[in-house]
Amino acid sequence: MVKICAVITEIKNNKKEGRRSLSKFIISHTPSLKGTVRISGSKNSALPILAASLLADGESTIEEIPNLKDVQCMYELLRWLGSDVEVLHNNRVRISTPKFKKHIAPYELVSKMRASFLVMGPLLARVGKTRISLPGGCAIGTRPVDLHLKGFAAMGAKITQGHGYVEAKAKKLKGAKIYLDFPSVGATENILMAACLAEGQTVIENAAVEPEIVDLANYLIGMGADVKGAGTDTIKVNGVKELKGTTHTVIPDRIEAGTFMAAAAITKSKIKIENVVPDHLKPVTAKMREIGIDIEENDTSIIINANGKLKSADIKTLPFPGFPTDMQAQFTALMSIVEGTSIIIETIFENRFMHVSELKRMGANIKIEGRSAVIEGVKKLTGAQVKATDLRAGAALVLAGLAAEGETEISNVEHVDRGYDGFEQKMVSLGAQIKRIEDDED
Ligand code: UD1
Repeated sequence: MVKICAVITEIKNNKKEGRRSLSKFIISHTPSLKGTVRISGSKNSALPILAASLLADGESTIEEIPNLKDVQCMYELLRWLGSDVEVLHNNRVRISTPKFKKHIAPYELVSKMRASFLVMGPLLARVGKTRISLPGGCAIGTRPVDLHLKGFAAMGAKITQGHGYVEAKAKKLKGAKIYLDFPSVGATENILMAACLAEGQTVIENAAVEPEIVDLANYLIGMGADVKGAGTDTIKVNGVKELKGTTHTVIPDRIEAGTFMAAAAITKSKIKIENVVPDHLKPVTAKMREIGIDIEENDTSIIINANGKLKSADIKTLPFPGFPTDMQAQFTALMSIVEGTSIIIETIFENRFMHVSELKRMGANIKIEGRSAVIEGVKKLTGAQVKATDLRAGAALVLAGLAAEGETEISNVEHVDRGYDGFEQKMVSLGAQIKRIEDDED
């Protein structure tokens, strides 16, 4: 306990004194968007890849790292653990961890961002011990980490919990057969990273198959890891003695791309979206086409044309290649002005409809029944003061604000900064009427 208090004091001392700034977006009705937008590197790939850099003492250069609050938070945690992190121009970062200063990830850092928990696998594999704050709940649900811990325990780690922390020790992790009760993205990533330096073979069954898992595996393979089957539900890893640094380019962010597709749809516009992998967008593209939107797919770009009449549709969120939960809020906003009844079922997170009460303040007609949102399309939304409760809820409110009559004021847009690189600049370049206002607070 004394050790943890010292850790917290050190973090607090490192923090700058002063005023805190809260941002708001003021959005005016935007009749249509036009032009081209370039998508940044994927947040959900960049975060595990940065955590995975801890597995090698040599230097990695990672390209297409998005400039986001969550990424900065990961840099803070990595530096705290002992990494040298050098942020270069053009979204590149050079990173190495020749020696660890700490093996603890304290509450102050983990509570800011749940993905901080992804340093557990690398720390356990490379240092043999770790003490990490339990991430706890967040706006979209309880989000346990039991599957991560079961995996580490199967690999021989001794796990104890207390005072909000989980501690794990293993002189040397041993390969194991691990069946995930649910194809958790984070658990697959954490176990995959740990397995790379374990003794013998690890088989992860019912693994997540998201494109971000494949991207992480490709980075690990570049570092010298022996990983096969990433992108299928069975991943086999033969542990190696050590990994080295490498160069890797992060895949484009499919959720950012999907959000701009939804922005075009809600404003009935035609835009070009560059730096995408159309295959990663399949579930979103299919739903958009079903609604009546025209989408032209090229090798690394798409053109979306939403000039026609849109139809209601039902949506169910599922693990990849199902419809992504991270696009649910944006589609809820879109379907709220599409004539007819649409039903959206959220199966991944138990409490991911926080945006609905805000959309209702803007005139949407939506009823929540358990894990379903029943949407009766209205003719128009009207601008109102609303609050972003989480990252994708914030994005959904921006989209609603573009379509709404009059002015919409969105508070707590820090949530949007966590996951969208240059969101309002990109929106403005397409013609969106959006500006940021800083509200200083003592
Ligand atoms: C990742 C993404 C997030 C996305 C989610 C689902 C990152 C940084 N975040 O989050 O944007 O919404 O995938 O696609 O990549 N679960 C357990 N026990 C566990 C782990 C998860 O019960 O040990 C449950 C969760 O509570 C949730 C479901 O499994 O209900 C999916 O979670 P998971 O796939 O692990 O999501 P994250 O990796 O946290």
